[in-house]
Amino acid sequence: MKKRGAAPMVGGQGRYGYFHNSSLQKSSFLAVKDMVREAIVDKFDVPIRGGTIRIADLGCSVGPNTFYTMQTIVDAILLKLKKLTSCDQVDGVEFQGFFNDQFGNDFNLLINSIPFDRTYCVAAVPGSFYSRLFPRASIHCFNSSVSLHWLSKSPDGVANKGRILYYGGGPDILNAYIAQFRLDMMAFLSGRAEELVTGGLLILQFLCRPKCMAPDAARYDIVISFVEPVLREFVMEGKVKEEELDSFQMPLFAPSIEEFKEVVEMNGYFTVHVAEHVNQGWGLKGGGDEGTEADLEQLAQSMGIASRAVCEKMLSDHFGSDILDELFQRFPNKVYQHFSALIPSIPSPPPSAFFVLQKKPHSPA
Ligand SMILES: C[S@@+](CC[C@H](N)C(=O)[O-])C[C@H]1O[C@@H](n2cnc3c(N)ncnc32)[C@H](O)[C@@H]1O
Repeated sequence: MKKRGAAPMVGGQGRYGYFHNSSLQKSSFLAVKDMVREAIVDKFDVPIRGGTIRIADLGCSVGPNTFYTMQTIVDAILLKLKKLTSCDQVDGVEFQGFFNDQFGNDFNLLINSIPFDRTYCVAAVPGSFYSRLFPRASIHCFNSSVSLHWLSKSPDGVANKGRILYYGGGPDILNAYIAQFRLDMMAFLSGRAEELVTGGLLILQFLCRPKCMAPDAARYDIVISFVEPVLREFVMEGKVKEEELDSFQMPLFAPSIEEFKEVVEMNGYFTVHVAEHVNQGWGLKGGGDEGTEADLEQLAQSMGIASRAVCEKMLSDHFGSDILDELFQRFPNKVYQHFSALIPSIPSPPPSAFFVLQKKPHSPA
């Protein structure tokens, strides 16, 4: 079977669409917003004389988070320019925002929900961010939020019986995922190095593994992981074939900050200015902080809906769509069972990773 990357998020304005179920991802960007602004003001360093500044958001999905991110970056660059140059020169500057995601993304919804009060021109760019997307030296700033932990495909030759994620299957599985992550990240960095102007910034946030966590540790914070126990039940009940489950792997890997920095170093085209852990909390609708039973029930429901928006397409492509409603009916109960013994101390998710890289002068293009 051909290995695939992440399927796009659920499109449309419906109940299970990403558009209405992406508060978890919004909270990730809110957690780094001030750091993004600060990095741009301190480090953004490209020659601009009344020209156009081009910004691209990679893995934008359907909105609305991407619009908030884009406007934040535009405003921060404007602030930086005002500090550097006279107001007359800044007045001539225009912004163009490129929104990138995979071909199957619901770009119609994205385009139809572009905010009226934006201060940039808009273009959509379909394609994988593991390939070249833009002309040489054409982009001044890239952002990618909550997307880069998705690999271009799950690694070949992986026999991870009964498991859908990279952990729990032993060192061979883990090493295969690390190798795939390195290949993908090299392709990503090399593509961006060609497309960025010298001095341009690459701002990234994605799932990572904190230092204190073993590489093979189970991850309750990867919310889609609670799909796995339901799929196992389905196998026992004859609703899903065992070999169907065994051949399904989520193409996702959460590296440590050090693993990511190693690839950046091997690639050689970027200087790392910021590489930090960031706490973003659950950020789910109604996921209260009191740690009560009602909070946990709400968190479990919200995790189910957030997960459906992310992985419904991936699941239906592999298992068919008939199982989806029942799968996501059972999902909250799996979350509840996992955390209920911990009430009133429902743990926060481990931090994500935030990076600011700058293209070095001798890099390509
Ligand atoms: C969780 S969403 C994040 C969306 C948005 N950045 C946000 O913060 O709400 C992850 C997005 O990454 C996209 N994605 C995954 N792999 C990709 C690839 N190789 N190229 C482009 N987009 C990709 C998915 O299609 C999805 O829309």
